[in-house]
Amino acid sequence: MARRAKIYEGKAKILYEGPEPGTVVQYFKDDATAFNAEKKEVIEGKGVLNNRLSEFFMSGLNNIGVPTHFIKRLNMREQLVRNCEIIPLEVVVRNYAAGSISKRLGIEEGTQLPRPVVEYYYKDDSLGDPIVSEEHIAAFNWASSQDMDDILGLALRVNDFLSGVMFSVGIKLVDFKIEIGRFFEGEYQRLLIADEISPDSCRLWDIKSGEKLDKDVFRRDLGSLTDAYTEVANRLGLLPKTNSQIKPTLVR
Ligand code: TMP
Ligand code: ASP
Repeated sequence: MARRAKIYEGKAKILYEGPEPGTVVQYFKDDATAFNAEKKEVIEGKGVLNNRLSEFFMSGLNNIGVPTHFIKRLNMREQLVRNCEIIPLEVVVRNYAAGSISKRLGIEEGTQLPRPVVEYYYKDDSLGDPIVSEEHIAAFNWASSQDMDDILGLALRVNDFLSGVMFSVGIKLVDFKIEIGRFFEGEYQRLLIADEISPDSCRLWDIKSGEKLDKDVFRRDLGSLTDAYTEVANRLGLLPKTNSQIKPTLVR
């Protein structure tokens, strides 16, 4: 079969031309990077886990009426998504202080914030994705004020959905990052959740023990990243039961 044309290669994913106009194939690599790719490793199986986890979160969002780019999973590493133009912003929602907000504002990690805090970062690796204000976003025309109203609404709906889903399996959603895409339906522009939602782009802490189940395990050298992501996928019921978990009477 002819190899599909590559559209773009990022740090964790590759985009290929899709089978129909308006579609793209999103391939999940095993590469893990942190600190703007200063730290790099190949972690076998990470791509497979993130493909499955992102499918789960995105299709859940589609089902409750939060539009996403996700169409269907194709195989272990690829999913079919809607082609869209990515708004050059990383939208971060925080429920508890951790990572850069703790550093920047001197808030102890784990402190619950009085309300969800939404931040915007300009997506530019050469600048290290700097934090920006809505003033910058308007002045440089990265998104309109109508877009920003819609983006805030989408980000808070994703936060409520993800927080609830994770809480139901004993995990605290500390914070997460999403990217927003735009596409045109006739003359109407629509926004949707694009990229991925996975433990690469969220902070997830076990509610009881506080154990980290996200990319901080890699960023901070805390143990096995695949064990952490497998734990999240298992709790959400996304992995087939191993033989040892199958009742002997069912094994013929
Ligand atoms: P931060 O505390 O480093 O600003 O990260 C906030 C959230 O955004 C956290 O869940 C990790 C996620 N994130 C990304 O997905 N990509 C990035 O490049 C960065 C810096 C953070
Ligand atoms: N994704 C970013 C990088 O590679 C940063 C991060 O997730 O910490 O480098």
